[in-house]
Amino acid sequence: MGMNIYRVDSYDAMSEMAAGIICRQMKEKPDSVLGLATGSTPVGMYRRIVELYGNGEVDFSKAVTFNLDEYRGLGREDEQSYYRFMHEKLFSHINIKEENTHIPDGTAEDGDEQCRRYEEQIRRAGGIDLQVLGIGHNGHIGFNEPADYYPVRTHCVDLSESTIEANRRFFTDINEVPKQAYTTGIGTIMRAKRILLLACGEDKADILARALTGEVTPRVPASILQFHPDVTVVADAGAAKYLCI
Ligand code: PGA
Repeated sequence: MGMNIYRVDSYDAMSEMAAGIICRQMKEKPDSVLGLATGSTPVGMYRRIVELYGNGEVDFSKAVTFNLDEYRGLGREDEQSYYRFMHEKLFSHINIKEENTHIPDGTAEDGDEQCRRYEEQIRRAGGIDLQVLGIGHNGHIGFNEPADYYPVRTHCVDLSESTIEANRRFFTDINEVPKQAYTTGIGTIMRAKRILLLACGEDKADILARALTGEVTPRVPASILQFHPDVTVVADAGAAKYLCI
């Protein structure tokens, strides 16, 4: 309980440990509600989960998932949509039921209504048992960008310049990078029973140290995790560089 920080040697070791935590969660509670993340960081974890599933070591037939976020304006078929990411990296390789997976719809006509409904769906599912998070260079979790306050619920957000810049590597042109996204809120994340934060690479070392050991402030959204009762952090040596562990 509290915050447990694990420093591991490599990206593969981080992925292995994270996949193990997810699989144990599924064994302990086969109908777990998982909060899932996209981005480069969890790709190896998903790959390892697919392997473990292939070996018959984990069953997702009763799992329910809610993804953190989706770009506003991108449809399911779009190459860069998180819908596509999740299906390619995980959902199409395991026995999860499509109807049990949830990702905000980037093309929703009524964004406010969708955000309200997303929160309601999470609540009806019994809340998130285990929330997987990455961390942005600016300290964002989900797409909760640095701000003067903590956005509580699922909402539409203007992405910060640094996030747009970080995301451009996936697009041919900077103008194609979506400027807005739907994201669950800090309150949604903090209500998860358990949190698994993953970080890899030296470029995350500074923000990870600030988030975990610095001032708790909405200017570093991930710093709020210091107040969560059950956080597991798995960081590779690069990302853990400034942590005294
Ligand atoms: P990354 O993104 O895993 O691609 O570094 C993390 C994040 O922005 O939350």
